[in-house]
Amino acid sequence: MDHDLIVIGAGPGGYIAAIRAAQLGLSVACIDAWSRDDGGPAPGGTCTNVGCIPSKAMLQSSEHYEHVAHGMAEHGIEVGSVKLDLARMLARKQQVVRQNNDGILYLFKKNKVRFLHGHAAFAAKVDGGFEIEVSGADKATLRARHVIIATGSRPRALPGVEFDEKRELSNTGALALQKVPARMGIIGAGVIGLEMGSVWRRLGAQVTVLEALPDFLGAADTQVAKEAMKQFSRQGLDIQLGVKIAEVKPAARSGPVKLRYTDAKGAEQALEVDALMVSIGRLPHTEGLQLDKVGLGTDERGFVVVDADCRTEVPGIWAVGDVVRGPMLAHKAEEEGVAVAERLAGQKPHVDFNTVPWVIYTSPEIAWVGQTEQALKAAGRAYKSGSFPFMANGRARALGDTTGFVKMLSDAATDQILGVHVIGPMASELIAEAAVAMEFKASAEDIARICHAHPTLSEAMKEAALATDSRALNF
Ligand code: FAD
Ligand code: NAI
Repeated sequence: MDHDLIVIGAGPGGYIAAIRAAQLGLSVACIDAWSRDDGGPAPGGTCTNVGCIPSKAMLQSSEHYEHVAHGMAEHGIEVGSVKLDLARMLARKQQVVRQNNDGILYLFKKNKVRFLHGHAAFAAKVDGGFEIEVSGADKATLRARHVIIATGSRPRALPGVEFDEKRELSNTGALALQKVPARMGIIGAGVIGLEMGSVWRRLGAQVTVLEALPDFLGAADTQVAKEAMKQFSRQGLDIQLGVKIAEVKPAARSGPVKLRYTDAKGAEQALEVDALMVSIGRLPHTEGLQLDKVGLGTDERGFVVVDADCRTEVPGIWAVGDVVRGPMLAHKAEEEGVAVAERLAGQKPHVDFNTVPWVIYTSPEIAWVGQTEQALKAAGRAYKSGSFPFMANGRARALGDTTGFVKMLSDAATDQILGVHVIGPMASELIAEAAVAMEFKASAEDIARICHAHPTLSEAMKEAALATDSRALNF
C-alpha cells in the first residue's frame, strides 16, 4: 500500500481529516480538484473558494460600506461622499481566499500530508484496500487501506435554468459580480439567499427574495425568525413567502431575466431582474468518483450513506461533510473528519449533532444551538424560557447596535440548557458560550452564576439565563 489513508476532497471535511490522521502517525494523501484561475491548486473546497470565506469577506466589506455611508453621523463623524470600488472589494475577497488556499498547502507540508492536485476516482478494490486513479496535474495511481470521501456539495439548479454565472447565478457567480445589479432576484430565502441578498442590497441593488415556503426561516426559533423578517424588511429586502415560480426566462445576451410566479394569495406576478441568484439548497457531489467500482451506491437524493461514525457500507471507506446526511456546515464537516481520523487511529471520538451551532452572518447576525421553542412544544417537553434584549445591554448601546435579543430555553425540572437563540450584534461569537455550556450539560443557573465581564455583549447571555428564573437584573 502507498498510504494508510487517501482523502478525496480538501474542503473543511477532507483537509482537516487528512491533517488529524497525519498528526496521529498515519501516512496520508489528500487529493483535490479545485483550481485557481492560473491553474494552480486551490484546496479548501466550497468553503474556502466560493462559500464561507469569500461570502464573509463580502459581508464584512459591504457592511463597512453601509456603515460609512449611513451609520457614522450618530457617532459625530461626518463623512464626505462615499464611493464604491467594487473591483477592489472583489480583489480583496480573492486575496482572502488565496491566503486560505496557501494556508492549507502550508499545513499539508507541515503535517507531511501528500497533496495531489487532480480529480480522483475509485479504480478497484484490491487486496487489503483500494486503488485510486488521479487525473489532472498530479496524475497518479495510488493504493491505500482506507479512503475518506469528502467530495462536498454543489448548488441545486431550478429545472430549466442553467447557471451561466453572469446573470443566472449560483453562489459562485453571486460572489463575483463585476457590477452591482440595479435589480437582483433571489430564489430561496435560506442562508445563502439572505447572506448574499444582504451583500448586494448594501452595495445598492434592489433585492427581491422569492421563497416557496409560507414560513420564514423555518429552522430558526419562531421568535427569532419573526424579528429577522422585521429587520430585513426594514432594511429594504423585499422577501415574499409562499410563492410558486412558474417560469424563469433566461436573459438573452443582454437584457433582464424575466420571472413569472404566483404569490401567497394565488395572484400571478411578473418580475424583471438584472441578475438572478438561485439558492434553493445544495446537492451532494459524487460525480466521476466511480463509486460502483468498489460496490458503493448513494441514496435516492445522492448522499453517500453512512452510519453515525461515518462508515459506509464498504469496510475501509468512510465519508464526511456535505456528501453525507446532516447539516451542510463547514464545522460539522470538520468534526466528522477529525472523528474518522481518530477512529482510524484506534480512538473513540463522538460528534454530538445537537450541539452543532448555526450562524447566519446577516446584520443582525442570527445564531443558535440546540432546540427551538417550537420543537420543544411539539415534543411535549416541559421547559422554561428566558429572554434578554440587547436594548438593555450597555455595550450594545455603546456600539450603537441594540437590535435583537438572547433567548435561553432550559428543562423545567432539571434546568439543563436545551437551546439558545441569539439575534443581534456578534451573535456568531456569543453562541460559542452556549455551545460550550450545552456540551458540558450545564444548567441555566450555571451560566447565571458565571462572572461575565462588563460591559460586554456576553452579559446578555447571563441575563437570559437569569431570565429563565424570572430574575434578570437589568431588564
Ligand atoms: P467541500 O467544501 O464542498 O469540498 C469538497 C472538495 O472536494 C472540493 O474542493 C471539490 O473540488 C473536491 N472534490 C470533489 N470531487 C472530487 C474528486 N472526485 N476528486 C478530487 N476532488 C474532488 N458553512 C459554514 O459552516 N459557515 C458558513 O459561513 C458557510 N457559508 C457558506 C456560504 C456559501 C455561499 C456556501 C455555498 C456554503 C457555505 N457554507 C458555510 C457551507 C460549507 O461551505 C460546506 O458545508 C462545507 O464546505 C462542506 O465541506 P466539505 O469538506 O464536505 O465539502
Ligand atoms: P437553504 O436550505 O438554507 O435554503 C433554501 C431555501 O430555498 C429554503 O428556504 C427553501 O424552502 C427554498 N426553496 C427551495 N426550493 C424552492 C423553489 N423552487 N422556489 C422558491 N424557494 C425554494 O439552502 P441554501 O441557502 O441554498 O444554502 C445551502 C446550504 O449551505 C445551507 O443549508 C447551509 O447548510 C449552507 N450555508 C451555510 C451558511 C452559514 O453557515 N452561514 C451560509 C450559506 C450556506
